[in-house]
Amino acid sequence: MAFIPEDKLLEIKDAASIEEVVGQYVKLTQKGRNLSGLCPFHAETKPSFTVAPEKGIFHCFGCGVGGNVFSFLMHYHRLSFPEAVQELARRYGIPVSVKDLGPEGAQQAKKRTKAYEANTAAAAFYAATLTSSEGRPGRDYLKKRGLTPEIIRAFQLGYAVDEWDALRRHFQHRGISLELGQEVGLLAPRDRGGFYDRFRGRIIFPIFDRQSRVIAFGGRIIGDGEPKYLNSPESFLYVKGRTLYGIPQAAEALRATRVALVVEGYLDLIALQVHGIGNVVATLGTALTREQVRLLKAVADKVVLVYDGDAAGAKAMKRAFPLFAQENLAVRALPLPTGLDPDSYAQAHGVEMFRSAWDSAQPWFSYLLEDLISTHGLDIEGRVQVLSELRPYVQALTDPVEQDLWLRNTSERLGVDAAALRKSLTSLAPISAARLDPMRNIVVDQEKKLLRWVLAHPEAVAPEELEEWTEEFRNPELKGLLELIITSYREHGRMDHSLLVQQATGETQRQHICSLTLEEDESEGPAGDFRAGDWRRDLRVKHLKKARARLKARLKNASDGEEVPLQVQWREIDQQLKDLSAV
Ligand code: CTP
Ligand code: MN
Repeated sequence: MAFIPEDKLLEIKDAASIEEVVGQYVKLTQKGRNLSGLCPFHAETKPSFTVAPEKGIFHCFGCGVGGNVFSFLMHYHRLSFPEAVQELARRYGIPVSVKDLGPEGAQQAKKRTKAYEANTAAAAFYAATLTSSEGRPGRDYLKKRGLTPEIIRAFQLGYAVDEWDALRRHFQHRGISLELGQEVGLLAPRDRGGFYDRFRGRIIFPIFDRQSRVIAFGGRIIGDGEPKYLNSPESFLYVKGRTLYGIPQAAEALRATRVALVVEGYLDLIALQVHGIGNVVATLGTALTREQVRLLKAVADKVVLVYDGDAAGAKAMKRAFPLFAQENLAVRALPLPTGLDPDSYAQAHGVEMFRSAWDSAQPWFSYLLEDLISTHGLDIEGRVQVLSELRPYVQALTDPVEQDLWLRNTSERLGVDAAALRKSLTSLAPISAARLDPMRNIVVDQEKKLLRWVLAHPEAVAPEELEEWTEEFRNPELKGLLELIITSYREHGRMDHSLLVQQATGETQRQHICSLTLEEDESEGPAGDFRAGDWRRDLRVKHLKKARARLKARLKNASDGEEVPLQVQWREIDQQLKDLSAV
């Protein structure tokens, strides 16, 4: 991964300023010369996440995560390093050739391209089958479900015939690797060697990513049968929890409305699209994840959950609310009558309600409160139960004003004294991420402080002096970091924190660079300089004393000719030591 040329990295890094990139995900406010905000990597109510624009790095004092603009994107979207580089290069219009990605990155990129091609070919094959004579069962079924040819095209729906090797033969004709077909989940290996088609006798729903690339497939059985849906397994292209179905088809409507409807199923979504409700995405029947919420945050300012009108749907909505609260994304619930899903609701009652979904929906907290009341009732035992189930949700409300308003609302609704309610529901402090200081146990405090100081004043100490220090540093990690600083400094003639982060040998070292840099920023002032001066002197004294001891040993066995120059050196060192102690 260190194969990407450094000048390319620097070019991208200079274009993609860290405050701008991070600012797209985290609300940042100026604090001194740095910026701070709520950490996107752990739940917190007080900002301990810091971005240093001048240095191009970030660090969270709460959970210890830190790095440069590439690391941020890697953590946030769980990308590999070459992926993060490519993503930023794309966003900022910097050309990156396959060659720039290095052998490893280039191979990865090539494989991904081939995999997308295999998926695209499969989607086209299934779509062609649907319109062919063999596709009649599929066409009939979709027509019965109310789908139009336009919608079928917009979602590139297809049909897989009920045979074992239709796609496999197609792949062979087209020279597409069957092994790759297996890796993306279209083919499965036979016991006796070879491959067979995973999807047979099913309607095919290609799943697209935000860039409209096919990353997976869902297949619905025609009519009744088990399993109703068969989906691609996760692969290097497809991670379920990071995908929302229908994103590219919804893009335009989302841009226009900034409101996203979230439904559970393929056909729920398509049924709404048929009726012109465009701003809708689907979770595909699994619990909503933090990553999906972040995906939503990128495309919408408000989210309305429209899950099936059954116990499972209610439960899934309730589980999702805290994620929205933590990610600070406005969410409401639009409950459907019992037994209906968005598709059947639309068939029965039309889609008017979905056009004004945000206004028709309920604030999530009141939806939750009513749901709990209808489950447990309002007798004393019921109310106690409601309160106990509310607790984690109240604590998920990070905005104190919002929390206060909902607590008042709850106290009225349940007829409970407001102060008592507050005490009961907020008594347990939210679980704070353990303060993670990777260097807490390190005794060599002085070394840490020196490094902190060097990172803050890189131009103040010559590399030669730093090299003297390496002899005195005891802690191997800190010594390694000092050596890295020296090498980087020598190579580039200056200190670039973000580049240093890139050159770090591992996650721990990366975190040390960020935490030490930003800690110094926080505790700036003349006192820091003064103390660093003291320690520098100590180190210098140690170093000189050692040098003097070495000279002494050499003088003992020196021949006559050698003695004089050694004595000169000795005197020089002595003088330096005197000067130092006189300061
Ligand atoms: N799902 C799945 N596997 C199943 C059942 C469901 O992957 N065996 C996913 C599908 O993505 C499905 C969603 O969960 O779209 C919702 O499931 P369900 O409500 O049962 O299906 P519908 O989308 O309503 O499909 P249909 O209207 O055809 O019953
Ligand atoms: Mn349905």
